[in-house]
Amino acid sequence: MARFHDLEVTDIHKTIRDAVVVALKPAPGSEEAFAFTQGQYLTFRHDFDGEELRRSYSICAGLDDGVLRVGIKRVEGGAFSGFANEVLKVGDTLQAMPPMGSFHTPLDGELQRHYLGFAGGSGITPVLSILKTTLAREPKSRFTLVYANRGVSTIMFREELEDLKNLHMGRLNVIHILESDAQEIDLFTGLVTQEKCGELFRSWIDIEDVDIAFICGPEPMMLGIAAALRAHGMEDAQIKFELFASAQPGRLKRKVTPGDTASSANQASTAITLDGATQTITMGKDISILDAALQNAMDAPFACKAGVCSTCRCRVTEGEVEMVANHALEDYEVEKGYILSCQSYPLTDRVAVDYDQ
Ligand SMILES: Cc1cc2nc3c(=O)[nH]c(=O)nc-3n(C[C@H](O)[C@H](O)[C@H](O)COP(=O)(O)OP(=O)(O)OC[C@H]3O[C@@H](n4cnc5c(N)ncnc54)[C@H](O)[C@@H]3O)c2cc1C
Ligand code: FES
Repeated sequence: MARFHDLEVTDIHKTIRDAVVVALKPAPGSEEAFAFTQGQYLTFRHDFDGEELRRSYSICAGLDDGVLRVGIKRVEGGAFSGFANEVLKVGDTLQAMPPMGSFHTPLDGELQRHYLGFAGGSGITPVLSILKTTLAREPKSRFTLVYANRGVSTIMFREELEDLKNLHMGRLNVIHILESDAQEIDLFTGLVTQEKCGELFRSWIDIEDVDIAFICGPEPMMLGIAAALRAHGMEDAQIKFELFASAQPGRLKRKVTPGDTASSANQASTAITLDGATQTITMGKDISILDAALQNAMDAPFACKAGVCSTCRCRVTEGEVEMVANHALEDYEVEKGYILSCQSYPLTDRVAVDYDQ
């Protein structure tokens, strides 16, 4: 089971005015736990005046960089991102769970593929990790990045991308789309919408040639891009998503069936396996399995509680549950019985879930 480990901040610097890049060194003995796959993220926990917050940040380093690095963009009024940008310094210790997430595709040095990445703002972090690793480990493959930002001054990793273009001559193409700054080519100004993608695919990107697309950014942008990719013939299996924040509230209350009362019909006996031990609890069907586990002092893993990060993933081994939101699990995982426990409520009177599988 994933647990928090100490990491030392070994470097911290600004990539733009409102974002820092933080290099981290796992405490001795934890190095192996932090071996990562390109595109994965770390979930940190930090105490703010007695309240523990958990926040996820994607690793922006490539597999061959020999360092663990995350990029944190300040969100106006945001607790963790503000702390990282204003207070965090070299020598501090952060606590994080080992890398998680499935925003990647297996690489093979023999393949000759064309990858297409879309990133919006801080959504560049996992895409940068993926493109660096891919260009280094698949020498015959190419990568096209469409990178959306408000203006030139908010482009994270601008110089690093230029360096990568020079390092991998002809194999990395970067198209910057800027919301408010005018560019020589009109098409490159404005928002990345389904219509703009359609125009890009007509004259700048040969979509028939693209094998896999990665999308990370604000949800409306992601939906528009995915719709354009599908409209131009890409299959769902070729499109990979990473959502940073959900536009939905994410903690939808389960619908209460008319006639429901606080009787035993609304209660479930739920067996929860965590770290090799099973505890059976009686819980209301209107609270999530994750909250029920936490209320019973079980140290179940979680980060966003919004169905986005998959940290709370477990597998249903008995009974049925309703998952009200899922922005993280792939269809094949759901078919195998995996659920996001922060979004799942018992439907049957007996349920068993396993966090260890
Ligand atoms: C898988 C994953 C990967 C991610 N990777 C990255 C990454 O690489 N880089 C990155 O920068 N981000 C990333 N994120 C987003 C990140 O986890 C945080 O969501 C983000 O940094 C904001 O957290 P925060 O604590 O700073 O803001 P929060 O404190 O959560 O605040 C968020 C917003 O809500 C408002 N708010 C807070 N409390 C209240 C309140 N009580 N009432 C009303 N409004 C309120 C704040 O003003 C702010 O606008 C990722 C998210 C996920 C799920
Ligand atoms: S805690 Fe993030 S998906 Fe459940």
